Amino acid sequence: SILSADFADLARECDRVAGSADWLHVDVMDNHFVPNLTLGLPVVEALLRHVSTPVDCHLMIQDPDRWAPAYAEVGAGSVTFHLEAAHAPVRLAREIRSQGARAGVGLKPATPVDSLVDLVDEIDMILIMSVEPGFGGQSFLELAVPKIRRARELIGGADIWLQVDGGVSESTIERCAEAGADVFVAGSAVFGSGDPAAACSAPSSSNPAATPAGRPAGTRNSATTSSSPAARPRTSSSSGTPAEAVGTKKPSGWRASCFRW
Ligand code: DX5
Ligand code: ZN
Repeated sequence: SILSADFADLARECDRVAGSADWLHVDVMDNHFVPNLTLGLPVVEALLRHVSTPVDCHLMIQDPDRWAPAYAEVGAGSVTFHLEAAHAPVRLAREIRSQGARAGVGLKPATPVDSLVDLVDEIDMILIMSVEPGFGGQSFLELAVPKIRRARELIGGADIWLQVDGGVSESTIERCAEAGADVFVAGSAVFGSGDPAAACSAPSSSNPAATPAGRPAGTRNSATTSSSPAARPRTSSSSGTPAEAVGTKKPSGWRASCFRW
């Protein structure tokens, strides 16, 4: 997530993770759906002209029915709206898809995963918020873990990505992966680090217990490979050494917005 990047220098900040992050996660906030204001369509359009990394727009806005399709139209590869804000989620997901983007649906921490039970055929990604949306740098909410697990059950064999967003770091990512998430959004853990590219690419070898194994060697292609629920990344408990775990194995169906293991 570029939410923790330097907003006065966004293009260069995006360049810092080019080739490392599979996606750029752009948090659009309107100061109504969430108590914060970030950026909107003109900035996304400008970024799209500059970057080659695919853009994943996370719309934390009211009335996404009105605004979301335009993000797909200008070239975002993925557009996620919040179920809590959408008036006609089925129609909206179809509109996003018809513009050639992946359609994602986000859930705030208190919104039950089962609200999506009738939507699975209409969407390409489920976003489980692991903080209250609005700000970067918050602590991970553990209640997200059983929600991820439930979402993975709901997805079954469908080709739907399962994204977790908020407080994702080396100390929380493995729990999310084990529960079934396969797309990881990290803002402060990436742009708050001294080396954002390295933060996207490699977990710390100094903390083997928190080192998710099976990080893909990583190309942008991993963002478009098909997902298989069986293709979970191997965890540190089932893999070899931490060194082996970093960057040498590439389970299919494993992708991330900023982190990619
Ligand atoms: C929060 C945003 C997140 C956030 C993640 O509302 O949706 O994408 O930027 O930031 P960290 O990783 O710092 O929690
Ligand atoms: Zn986000």
